[in-house]
Amino acid sequence: MKIVTDPQELQRQCLVWRNAERTVGLVPTMGFLHAGHTALMDRMRPECDRMVVTLFVNPTQFGENEDLSNYPHDFEGDCAKAEAHGADLLFAPAPDAMYAPDHATWVEVPELGRHLCGASRPIHFRGVCTVVTKLFNLTRAHKAVFGQKDWQQLAILRRMARDLNMPVEIIGHPIVRESDGLALSSRNAYLTETERAAAPAIRRGLLNLRETVRAGQRNAGAARAALKEEYASTLPMGEVDYIEIVDPADIVPMEDISGPVLAAVAIRLGKARLIDNILIEV
Ligand code: PAJ
Repeated sequence: MKIVTDPQELQRQCLVWRNAERTVGLVPTMGFLHAGHTALMDRMRPECDRMVVTLFVNPTQFGENEDLSNYPHDFEGDCAKAEAHGADLLFAPAPDAMYAPDHATWVEVPELGRHLCGASRPIHFRGVCTVVTKLFNLTRAHKAVFGQKDWQQLAILRRMARDLNMPVEIIGHPIVRESDGLALSSRNAYLTETERAAAPAIRRGLLNLRETVRAGQRNAGAARAALKEEYASTLPMGEVDYIEIVDPADIVPMEDISGPVLAAVAIRLGKARLIDNILIEV
């Protein structure tokens, strides 16, 4: 596995592969790799000839009071995991190699970023879209894979690629979970033992919400209120950032549950802000 830090070198190498008619697959990450990330690599590996894993804690997607400076990292461990899961190239640039001091161009899909994480993290998806566009341009990847854990991110990137005719196929991959149901996240590392023990309640609440919808609940407001009440007792130390029921493609809140919906939550638990979601087919 080749390790590259220079964007131009990445671009050159991917061009060589393209010219030799190799398909290039891209797995973007911010590192501190866990089984959710490696599942994306395992998914991509048979889909392409050359697999590029990127490891970049993208500063432009973090707000001022967020965890950019404390974001966990383990470069050696990440290299070993990416290599073990079949990466041909690991791209790990320094921030100033990706952003010129006078960087001034942004890619944004505002319509899909008004709710869920976009509401509490106003510049977040603009940073995500911009960096992913840069990665697409650097690699000219034929395919790229993203996790459904960040459902809104996936929906936004799909819309961006479609709207801007980006020649890339976007693959969505299901959420990978711990055996107790907690969605894997690099930010789980922030949890204390007590918080970690309570955290599976996030998923249980979403499963219960799905049950109430399956049993006939069609009022989104009532379903959300019931989940809020449940979290107040199962996760008393948690602080709800949002509990929303939205259209899975447009990410706008729905009042009546008449078709498939996405129930999505973000909960602050100690130093961590954890997200999870569930797709509910009616
Ligand atoms: P990061 O949080 O490191 O996640 C990288 C990819 O792994 C994303 O596509 C994310 O959805 C996926 N992922 C994380 N945890 C997962 C889990 N438990 N199950 C399935 N997939 C999971 O998301 C980002 O980085 C960044 O925003 C990025 C797209 C790299 C742009 O900077």
